[in-house]
Amino acid sequence: MSDRRKILVTSALPYANGDIHLGHLVEYIQTDIWVRFQKLRGHDCTYVCADDAHGTAIMLRAEQLGITPEEQVAKVKADHEQDFADFLIEFDNFHSTHSEENRVLSNEIYGRLLANDHIAKRSITQAFDPEKNLFLADRYIKGTCPRCKAEDQYGDNCEVCSATYSPTELINPKSVISGATPVEKESDHFFFKLPEFQQFLQDWTRAGHLQPEVANKLAEWLDVGLQEWDISRDAPYFGFEIPNEPGKFFYVWLDAPIGYMASYKNLCDAKGLDWQEAWKKDSEFELYHFIGKDIVNFHALFWPAILTSADYRTPTKVCVHGFLTVNGKKMSKSRGTFINGRTYLNHLQPEYLRYYFAAKLNASVDDLDLNLDDFVQRVNSDLVGKVVNIASRTAKFISKSGGTLSDTIADENLWQRFVDAGDVIAALYENREFAKAQREIMALADAANEYIADKAPWSLAKQEGTEQDVLDICTLGINMFRALLTYLKPVLPATAEKAEAFLGETLSWNEPVSFRGGQAINKFKPLMTRIEADKVAAIVADSQEALASSQASSSQDTTAPTATGPLVDEPIAEEIDFDAFAKVDLRIALIAKAQHVEGADKLLQLTLDLGGETRNVFSGIKSAYKPEDLEGKLTVMVANLAPRKMKFGLSEGMVLAAGPGKDEIYLLEPHAGAKPGQRVM
Ligand code: 2FM
Ligand code: ZN
Repeated sequence: MSDRRKILVTSALPYANGDIHLGHLVEYIQTDIWVRFQKLRGHDCTYVCADDAHGTAIMLRAEQLGITPEEQVAKVKADHEQDFADFLIEFDNFHSTHSEENRVLSNEIYGRLLANDHIAKRSITQAFDPEKNLFLADRYIKGTCPRCKAEDQYGDNCEVCSATYSPTELINPKSVISGATPVEKESDHFFFKLPEFQQFLQDWTRAGHLQPEVANKLAEWLDVGLQEWDISRDAPYFGFEIPNEPGKFFYVWLDAPIGYMASYKNLCDAKGLDWQEAWKKDSEFELYHFIGKDIVNFHALFWPAILTSADYRTPTKVCVHGFLTVNGKKMSKSRGTFINGRTYLNHLQPEYLRYYFAAKLNASVDDLDLNLDDFVQRVNSDLVGKVVNIASRTAKFISKSGGTLSDTIADENLWQRFVDAGDVIAALYENREFAKAQREIMALADAANEYIADKAPWSLAKQEGTEQDVLDICTLGINMFRALLTYLKPVLPATAEKAEAFLGETLSWNEPVSFRGGQAINKFKPLMTRIEADKVAAIVADSQEALASSQASSSQDTTAPTATGPLVDEPIAEEIDFDAFAKVDLRIALIAKAQHVEGADKLLQLTLDLGGETRNVFSGIKSAYKPEDLEGKLTVMVANLAPRKMKFGLSEGMVLAAGPGKDEIYLLEPHAGAKPGQRVM
């Protein structure tokens, strides 16, 4: 291709404290398809990503697991990389924001902001946990809503009445981390002077770098006027210490996008290339960031302003997508629709999902729905029923006549339609209109199938003297299949590879597809099988099961309360290592209140006090305890069990008990002196 573009592409960096789920995969699949398309067209396209390793959440998570943040980050990175590889997401580099390259670049960029007088320093007052010696972000404070008096609400908004407020307004506020009452404390913070970029951003957000609806949303913020952005956090914090400012760290969102640069630098260093070529002002590289709609302000306001101050180029485009819903609703653990990538892969191959997402993705920020029935139907009908079918119906006749394609084009008009569609489909991929591209491709597949059905080579072959006609028809069939697989190659790289083995060629698309005649092809092997609906049911069941097994009977009112304790005469459970055990956050809990649950014959509703934080837990211990006998007692609870929605309300943990069940259930109770909230080890 004459004008070979240089393109650098990123996806948002996943946090290093959680699994990759199908919601994440919308973005990685979208980006990967776009990148593979660019490479297939012959462009010099590089795709980099990294784990987003810093911040309080990751620090606390590691502490909870009894490991260092570095260990936590390394473990998650290995899992993420395996998941991405298995979904055929092909990064040119996957790095970490906790890297030497990122430290150097973050320091350098900060130094430039400072030199340009774009950093302000001033003292601010924040909530502080006097037990943990930690400043508390709003989400780490809970208390009673000042408006509706609902208990257990976060520091910035009430989930019951939707009021927004500052944590100082909460009634009886508590640190979620230690249970201590937060105090107010002053400390110096560093701010990026974003308002100085007001005019620049007003222009930049309207200069074709963003989808119109994204620019409109940003205009609302720009109209109100921009605020200075707090880019520092106090120790203890897992991140980079700010140069010459002991005890002050860069906020995770300052060094995260710099992580794009750092990952690219890491790649260039390994390949002996100059990373600055892509990032310098007036670079000839195009730079694309693919992100979700929740992080637009970081990428389309802060990031271009910081790059500008630091004298680097700004992005060519920030490509924003919407969220994933499953069966029309937000992904939900209790419905089994919060599906981890790994759970999906345990049952189905990645290309089904890649195709389905492609068939749904467009350039808008609208949410995208994975309807599980439609998923099965669509993949089976389009990929297996239409595309693969073309080859399986025609290949055998080529084999029968010696395995060599004819050099006659049996229907010039039809073939020309396949060739001409290439430019249309390419433009759709380029503009992220993947759904429309897949529709064009499937319309071609329909035309191919109609042609083959009409010519019916299987009937023709039964007549005398038709060998050449049959060969010509099937040669066109194979060529139409070649074109379709070329156009699908960004979406279905593994199937394309199998098709290439069958065709004995590499499918390329840097020029219009050409007709292949007179050459041999190999024996056809099935390329893809249908999705069986029970596989999807198993994915949903596993996604529910992961929750249920960790939750057992504390929250169920169906079977005997066995989870309340392993029994002596029961089989010994599978051995686990210390890390697995350490994941369970066992706490001393005070049973502040116990009551019957109307309509439940096995459950009691317990209000548990964890030294400030209160939890609502439904427990299957009714047959053994009267509520009034439990109140005021201490017990042990699993405090980090994912909350479970039950018929009677939300259950937020489980209490531990022993015994065979029925009326023999013995709640665990610590020796005197233990305090609510204390960790059990
Ligand atoms: O929202 C998130 O998941 C962030 N970890 C994304 C960071 S993207 C980039 F800026 F680093
Ligand atoms: Zn409220």
